Amino acid sequence: MNGTTGESLEIKDIAVDDLSADQAQAELSRLAGEIAEHDRRYHQEDAPTISDAVYDALRKRNSAIEGRFPDLVLADGPSVQVGAAPASGFGKIAHTVPMLSLDNAFNDEDVQDFVGRVRRFLKFDPLMGALAVTAEPKIDGLSLSLRYEQGELVYAATRGDGTTGENVTANARTIKDIPERLIGEVPEVVEVRGEVYMAHKDFEDLNKRMEANGGKVFANPRNAAAGSLRQLKSEITASRPLRFFAYAWGEMSAVPSETQSGMVELFEAWGFRINPLMKRCETVEELLGVYHGIEEDRARLDYDIDGVVYKVDRLDLQERLGFVSRSPRWAIAHKFPAEQAYTVLNDIEIQVGRTGALTPVAKLEPITVGGVVVSNATLHNEDYIKGIGQDGEPIRDGKDLRVGDTVKIQRAGDVIPQIVDIDLDKRPADAKPFDFPTVCPACGSHAVREKNEKTGRVDAVRRCTGGLICPAQATEKLKHFVSRNAFDIEGFGDKQVDAFYKDGLVMAPADIFTLEERDARSLTKLRNREGWGDQSARNLFDAINQRRSVELHRFIFALGIRHVGEGNAKLLARAYGSWSVFYDAMQAAHDETGEAWTDLNDIDGIGHIVAEALVEFFAETHNRDQLDALLGAVSPQDAEKVDASGSPVAGKTVVFTGSLERMTRDEAKAMAERLGAKVSGSVSKKTDLVVAGPGAGSKLKKAQDLEIEVISEDGWFDLVGA
Ligand code: IVH
Repeated sequence: MNGTTGESLEIKDIAVDDLSADQAQAELSRLAGEIAEHDRRYHQEDAPTISDAVYDALRKRNSAIEGRFPDLVLADGPSVQVGAAPASGFGKIAHTVPMLSLDNAFNDEDVQDFVGRVRRFLKFDPLMGALAVTAEPKIDGLSLSLRYEQGELVYAATRGDGTTGENVTANARTIKDIPERLIGEVPEVVEVRGEVYMAHKDFEDLNKRMEANGGKVFANPRNAAAGSLRQLKSEITASRPLRFFAYAWGEMSAVPSETQSGMVELFEAWGFRINPLMKRCETVEELLGVYHGIEEDRARLDYDIDGVVYKVDRLDLQERLGFVSRSPRWAIAHKFPAEQAYTVLNDIEIQVGRTGALTPVAKLEPITVGGVVVSNATLHNEDYIKGIGQDGEPIRDGKDLRVGDTVKIQRAGDVIPQIVDIDLDKRPADAKPFDFPTVCPACGSHAVREKNEKTGRVDAVRRCTGGLICPAQATEKLKHFVSRNAFDIEGFGDKQVDAFYKDGLVMAPADIFTLEERDARSLTKLRNREGWGDQSARNLFDAINQRRSVELHRFIFALGIRHVGEGNAKLLARAYGSWSVFYDAMQAAHDETGEAWTDLNDIDGIGHIVAEALVEFFAETHNRDQLDALLGAVSPQDAEKVDASGSPVAGKTVVFTGSLERMTRDEAKAMAERLGAKVSGSVSKKTDLVVAGPGAGSKLKKAQDLEIEVISEDGWFDLVGA
C-alpha cells in the first residue's frame, strides 16, 4: 500500500520512488508488454499509435524502475531488447527436389550450340522428326516452390541455396496469384514452382507510398519483390502487390502430362497464372524469332524480364538429358544484352527542391544506352557520391565519384539511369573528391543534415535552412502549387513561375490570385511583356479565376507539406471532409496526447512520420499566414461524399486484419470506402467491425478484448451482399 493515496491510484500512476517491490515487479512486466506492442506497431506495421514523447516516457519509467530495483530487471525486458527485430527469422525447408539454376546463352550462336548439344546427347537425328523446345520470358523476380498435398497449399519455400530454402508460407498465402486450394483433380503431392515478381506500376505506387511515409524506396521491382516476400510480418507482405507466374515443378506424386507445355497448361487449369508469351517451337530459327520478338516487346511488358528460357518440351527427353552440376541439360537461359555503356561524368550539379533538399545530379557526356540518349543520372545524396549506399553498405565497391571520371551507366527497364561502376584506370590525375556544398547554392543559407532524434541516425539528405528566403525553395513550391495534380492552372508552368518570381510579381501562392487586380493598376502590364499579348494575358487570368475553387485533396496536396503526396492528400480529404474540419484537426493534433492526434494516426495509410510533418506544418506561423492569405482568394470544396445509401457498413469504422483471400487489402479498403465505411489500421474503442482472415494476431485479440464484432472475409461478402 502506498501511503494515503495508494488505494485510489493504479500502479501505473504511482511515482517510481513510491513503488513497493511487488508493485515495481508488476509495473515492469506491464511496461515490457506495452513497450513491446508499441515497438511492433512502429517497426513491423509502420503504424505507431502513440507519439514519440509518450513512448519515451514509457521507456524512461521502465529505466527508472529498473534503476531502483536492479534485481527485478526482466531478462527479455525492453532495456535488453532493441526494437522489435525478431531474432529467429524464417524457418528452413529442405527441398525434396533441388531448385536448380540455368546455364546461360548470350547470343544466337550459343542457342544453336545448345540445340546441337541436346540433339547429339539424345542421338536425335533429323530423321526422327522435329525436336520441340519451348521459349518463354525469364522473369526477373525470385523463385518460389509451393507444395500442395491433396490439393491444399502446405508450404511455400524460397530457393535459398537450391537445397534448403526459407519457409515463407504465411507470406505466400497473401499473394492473390497463389491458390490456397488447387482446382480439379490433382496428384496427391504437387510442387509448383515459379517466379514471384512485382509489376512496374505496382512498384512505382509502392515506392511512392514508402516515400510518402518517410520510408526507404526500393531500387528496382526485383528488390521490392524480394524485400516484400521476405517480411517477417505477413500483414506487410499482404499490403505489397506481389504476383506469381508458374513455370516449373519439383516433387510430383504423378506427372500428369508428357510435355513441358502440357504441364504448364495444367498449372493454369489448377488455378495458376502462366506467362502468355510462352511458345512451343520446332526449329532454332523459330526459337530465335520468339527471342527477338520478346526482346522488342520488352519495354511494353509491365514487368521486368532479363532473357528468354528455352526448355526441351518432351519430359522423357528431359529425363534422359538430366543435369550437369546445378543446371539441367534440357534448358538454357538466353540473356538480353545488358543495357550498359561507359561515358564521362562532366559535372555534378546540385538542385534545390521545394523542401530544401539538395539533390546532386550527374551531368554526363550524352550516350545511348538501350536505345535512349542519357545525359543525366540521379546521384541521390552526398553519401551516394562517396560510394555509400542506403544502409551504409558500399556501392560501386565503395568507389567515390569524381568529376572527369569514366563511369558505367545502366538502364534497367524504365528505371532512371544509374552509375553502377567507375573505371579507375581512366581517372584523370587531377580529379578531386567531390566537395558537397554545406551552404545552399541558391540562397547561401546553411545546408544541414538533420539528426533523427528517435533513431539517432543522421539524414542522408542535406537541406537548405533558408525556408522562404531561399528562391529555389520558393519557386519549387510555386511550381508544385500550380502543377497538374495540384491547382493545375493552365498556362502557368515552370517558365512563368520563374519569370514572375524574378520580377517580384508572384512570390507566394496567394500572389497568383491577386495578379489580375494588381495588373489592372500596374504601369507594366502583363500584356505588354515580351511573349505576352492581350489574349494570352486574358487567358491566364481566366485560368487563374477558374481555380478559385478546387477540390480539397488538390488544395492539401498543393501546400507541399513534406511526405504529403497526392495519395495522402486524398486520404486526408476523405477522412476530414472539409477544409475547416481538417484545419481545426491539424491545430488540435499538436497535442499528442489528445484525440485529434490519435484520429490522425488512425487514418489507414497515414503513418506517424506523415502525421508529424502535418502537425509541424500547421504549427509554423508563416505557413498559417500564407494559408490565411490564400484562403482569402480560394475556397477548397468539400470532399465528395460517398453514396452509401442502404449500405450496412455506412459510417462504420472497419479494420481488416490477417490475410485476405478473395481480395487484396487495397481492394478491400476501396470496397469498404465505396460503401461509406471508414477503414482504420488499428483496433480501438471506435472500431465497429473487424474482418479477420487467417493469421490475424494482436488486432484480432484486441477486438475480442474490446468485444468488437469480428467476422471472416466470407462473412464480409455476405454482409455487404457482394
Ligand atoms: S526454369 C530447372 N523458367 O531463373 C530450371 N526459371 O537462372 C528451373 N526464372 O532460379 C527454372 N523465369 O528464378 C525457369 N520462365 C522461367 C524463369 C526462370 C525466371 C529464374 C528462376 C531460376 C533462375 C535460373
